Amino acid sequence: MASYIIRGGCSPCPLAIYKEIDMTTIAEFMTSDHKACDYKFADAETAALAGDWSKAETAFNTFRDDMARHFRMEEDVLFPTLTAAGGPSGPVHIMLMEHAQIKELLKQMGAAVEHKNAQQYSGLSETILMVMQQHNLKEEQILYPIMDQILAAQRETLLGQIQSV
Ligand SMILES: [Fe+2]
Ligand SMILES: [Fe+2]
Repeated sequence: MASYIIRGGCSPCPLAIYKEIDMTTIAEFMTSDHKACDYKFADAETAALAGDWSKAETAFNTFRDDMARHFRMEEDVLFPTLTAAGGPSGPVHIMLMEHAQIKELLKQMGAAVEHKNAQQYSGLSETILMVMQQHNLKEEQILYPIMDQILAAQRETLLGQIQSV
């Protein structure tokens, strides 16, 4: 009678599972999207300050659209999910107020592009850069890490949702 040794192989192998998991955090994904928006901002500013209005218009529209998409990721998906899970509503409220401020500045920048007004664009550009930098830093250092902690179990689903916004 033959005897069989069933080897305790790895099915499923823990290492394979580990490799299949997408290790991107919300903080990493959203921080890299901030950087992508910053590059678009710089493209628009360079063109506007050089007086190349045709290029500036295209670059500004790209920047504005990318910012709008980034805000939708936060306003439609991340922020409501965070507060629904018991996350801090105060900081989220402040972020939303800052979004409104940035959206207003974007509207004014759009008008400056339309009127080909480099001086106006330059002033607004300086203001929005300062507001964006402070806003992004607060999200990157405080809010996104809180999301990664509180929403850890939903992270993969959330990353899928924000990428399809
Ligand atoms: Fe934001
Ligand atoms: Fe953000």
